[in-house]
Amino acid sequence: MLGGAALLTPPLVYIGERFLSVSSEAAPDASAGRFTNPLRLPGQDGLFPLVRANTLSRLTALPVQFPLRGKHPTALWAYQAELAGRLVLNPILLARPGDRIALAFENRIPQPSIIHWHGFTNDTRNDGGGMTLVEPGGRCHYDWSVRNSAALNWYHPHPHLKAGEQTWRGMNGLFIVEDDESDKLARELGVQFGITDVPLVIQDRTIERSGEMAYSDNPKRQFHGMSGNSVMVNLTRFPVLDLPRRWVRLRILNASNARSYRLALMQKDKRLAFMLLGTDSHLRSPPTEIQEIFLAAAQRIDIAVDLRQADVGDVWLRTLPFDPMHNEMGAMGAMAEMDSMGGGHVHGAQGEGADSLILRINVKPYDGAPGSLSSRITEKKVLTYDNRVKRDFVLDHDGDGTWRINGKSFYPPEVMLKRRSLGDICQTPGSVSLDSASVSLDTSQMPTSRSFVVQNGARETWVIRNDNASMPHPMHLHGFSFSVVERKGSPPQLKSLAIDPQGRTAQDLGRMDTVLVWPGEAVTIEVDFSHPFSGEQSYMFHCHNLEHEDLGMMLAFSIAGKG
Ligand code: C2O
Ligand code: CU
Ligand code: CU
Repeated sequence: MLGGAALLTPPLVYIGERFLSVSSEAAPDASAGRFTNPLRLPGQDGLFPLVRANTLSRLTALPVQFPLRGKHPTALWAYQAELAGRLVLNPILLARPGDRIALAFENRIPQPSIIHWHGFTNDTRNDGGGMTLVEPGGRCHYDWSVRNSAALNWYHPHPHLKAGEQTWRGMNGLFIVEDDESDKLARELGVQFGITDVPLVIQDRTIERSGEMAYSDNPKRQFHGMSGNSVMVNLTRFPVLDLPRRWVRLRILNASNARSYRLALMQKDKRLAFMLLGTDSHLRSPPTEIQEIFLAAAQRIDIAVDLRQADVGDVWLRTLPFDPMHNEMGAMGAMAEMDSMGGGHVHGAQGEGADSLILRINVKPYDGAPGSLSSRITEKKVLTYDNRVKRDFVLDHDGDGTWRINGKSFYPPEVMLKRRSLGDICQTPGSVSLDSASVSLDTSQMPTSRSFVVQNGARETWVIRNDNASMPHPMHLHGFSFSVVERKGSPPQLKSLAIDPQGRTAQDLGRMDTVLVWPGEAVTIEVDFSHPFSGEQSYMFHCHNLEHEDLGMMLAFSIAGKG
């Protein structure tokens, strides 16, 4: 492998609004020449093949070795599946509404774990939110039905305190739902999965030349969330992808632990417009034309790009410069000092908000049918509601390294400290079934669990306010999607993307399960808490900066049983 950090883009510092004046300029692209590794595509190298989820009987979390940088293998933890006798990692699961997902999760990593099906409507037992854990050597059984329409969802671990580490080490995969509407969309676009309809999983990691990819338990790292110094796509460093000069579809997941990206497609200095087809777990109508989008951790976008806007040659998927607004340090006495000693997250050219290249798209000449995109993708509407219950959520930290929702941590700090190791949370070893729930968190130790109870069928308005002396928090709701109805106090870099008087961006007009709330911002969302499950169910609402989640920026609430 050639060169090191010195070949990456030189440091650029952006403060406040200043970056806006340079945002549309092309950045220095010293690293461009390194983008020569063919992007890993579904099924290649035994990685993420597309698998019909209802045919799969088992996913096993286990340590594996896989070369991510040069020839030296990197030790990963991944989900392994067996397909007709062949072992594959992190399969892309595919389902249609109504499919039954009945599979075992087998845990062969040295930590308790559980799988969360991010973006799906499930009861608590099958949601995998962390109330039930599987010990090393144990297994549990999921059995649920797909109740969602076409979507780009994903699956990842959710054991409290360890979700960040396990996801970082490689446990995560896509879970795609297709339905009649998305079939029609693909037919019109004339795209083919894995060729002109390409999933892109964006993740930042630091991989040493030795292949080592360490996860840091350093509390300062944890305070900001883990970030790495290189941004990979589909586990490929410096990737390149050939695409024909016609309509193409890109389905993008930000599976980074903490980092947000400001994504744009550019050819030299020219921005390419792209059509937003879907956000998180929903398609939308009509598709909206945009030129850039903030994609926070756990968020997904489904986009179509007419590459006839570009000339044959290189188009870059890049992250434009922005102010990451890590404004929390001002209010942090002791932590700020530690941070200035260098124990913090990745800064400068490789840090969040730095202008950098992500994927080289090599646009090839094409003279077949270019495909088309109609304005009617879905008949489903984004509803707005009356008669709502209103709840307020305040995001801040206590000045001492603990992120909070409404002044509380998932565990109060005393309990959390004692529980840094998961060992004492899960006492029952061996094989368990989720049905028996024989392995569960000791909820008597969780005074902040079930913060409130929502009526089944209630339509609620939630106002999520982020403190000024804070950082952006991607807030995720389990079990239900929501719509954004208003943003107030948005920073200029977001305000400039607003497309309506409510301060909403194009992304906000779809349905989402994760919303980024910037420092000083108040985001109002509406949620329809209707679901078909009887009996009381509980769900998580948390920051999807996975280290924030692990450190307790999470709450559990219940949906009351019917009748
Ligand atoms: Cu993607 Cu609670 O998680
Ligand atoms: Cu989730
Ligand atoms: Cu957070």
